[in-house]
Formats: sequence, C-alpha cells, structure tokens
Amino acid sequence: MEIRILSVGDVVGEPGLRYLKKNLFQLRRTHQIDFCVVNGENASMVGMTPDQGEEILMAGADAVTLGNHTWNRREICRLLDEDERVLRPANFAPQLPGSGLGIYDTDFGSLAVINLVGRCGMDFNADNPFTKVDALLKKCQGMPVLVDFHAEATSEKLAMGFYLDGKVSAVWGTHTHVPTADLRILPHGTGYISDLGMTGPMNSALGVDPRQSIAMFRGELTSRFEPAPGPRWLCGAIFTIDVETGRCTDVEQVILKEQQ
Ligand SMILES: [Fe+2]
Ligand SMILES: [Fe+2]
Repeated sequence: MEIRILSVGDVVGEPGLRYLKKNLFQLRRTHQIDFCVVNGENASMVGMTPDQGEEILMAGADAVTLGNHTWNRREICRLLDEDERVLRPANFAPQLPGSGLGIYDTDFGSLAVINLVGRCGMDFNADNPFTKVDALLKKCQGMPVLVDFHAEATSEKLAMGFYLDGKVSAVWGTHTHVPTADLRILPHGTGYISDLGMTGPMNSALGVDPRQSIAMFRGELTSRFEPAPGPRWLCGAIFTIDVETGRCTDVEQVILKEQQ
C-alpha cells in the first residue's frame, strides 16, 4: 500500500496562517493526502502560540513541527505538554517541555515524525542531531519515519539526508524559507529536499516586509519585523511512500501561488 505525505514549509505570520487555512483542505483532497506535517515556527513571526498551533491543526495538519524559534513564545509549553501532535526539535535539552518524536496511529498503521534542529549557523546550543536521531530511530522501527530537519546549512541538511538514507522514508529541510529544486529519491529509497520553502507573503524577505529587511542590512534602526503585504504562497512537497518497505517512490514539489 502506498501513502501520500504532504509537508508544508514554515508558516509566517497571520498572512501565512490565513493562506494555509484557505488552501490546505483543498490541497489534501486534490492530491489525495493521507498525512500532513506543517512547520509552524513562524506563525507569530518568531515562534508559535498555542492558539496558532491549534489553528494549524484545525486547518488540516496531522502534526505540527517547530524550530529554532520554539521558545520565543514560551506559552507554547502548554500545547507541547498537552498535544502530542505538536513537536519541537528533539535535540533541544531533554529537560525542556515537549517531544521531538511523535508516533501516530493512522488508518495505514503507525507512523513516526521526528523534528530536529541543525547546529551550523544557529545561535544556540543543541545536541548533535546525528547522534540524537540514532536514539530516536530505535523507538520507531517497522514504521514509516518522516524527518523535518530545521537547519540553515544545505551541507548539514544533505549530510543528514544521506545519513538517514534507507533508514527513514523522508527527510525535508525547513528554516531558510526558500524552496530548493533538489528534491529526489536518495540511493537507498529516502525521499529528500533541502528546503520546502515557506507559507506566507511572497514579496518578502523570508516573510518580512522587504523595507524592514533592507533597513536592517543597511545598518539602520529597525522596528519589530512585520509580515509583508500582498500575495502569498504555500510551499511544500508530497512524498509517496510504500508502507511495507518504508521506501519513498515519488517526490513532488508543491508551490501554490496567490494571484498578484
Ligand atoms: Fe527557523
Ligand atoms: Fe522559519
């Protein structure tokens, strides 16, 4: 039996959240999606509130992943404790709330989702994601495993893809907010893309109003980042997975654009 997984890149601000809510159910129907994972770490620009997490789930996500901005919204701890569909990177310190591994009972059997954060170019200390994932994989043998690797460097993401090739069904990158064109099936059957991209304002620098981003890079005084106005896009990928073997048989990019 084959299943189809939709993964959606970082939802940015209210515009991203509203665009996701407007389109996700239809997207699921059109592409016959069995399971959907959405990265929500920028729903409040930096971090995600519990209400926003619940909205993403209501919009049609089966699991919500986070990233380096997880603790910018401390109130998320409540949802991380209450709802196992909401994950934070597994390689954060173990005493922190929440989990980075979710194992879900579905119509097609058990399915695991792992959320990890990279260490290259990130301004905090996280445990080694490569050794952390080894420990997590022992808990999810015999089921398809999906990995959201929230990282900056394409080198680190590619290394993770090849490290997990043949051990998991899919590895996708999030965090850069720019979709990459390198989606493929790796030699041992793992579906891979370096970055899904983002869901939110198209005419923006990573979702932020370009005027603010330009001011920052010009060294001027900047105000709190606001989402850019204008048309939005939703970026993601669809992985088709053979449940018996756990192998990915197809990867397809999804970029849904609003009219200018
Ligand atoms: Fe991020
Ligand atoms: Fe992000």
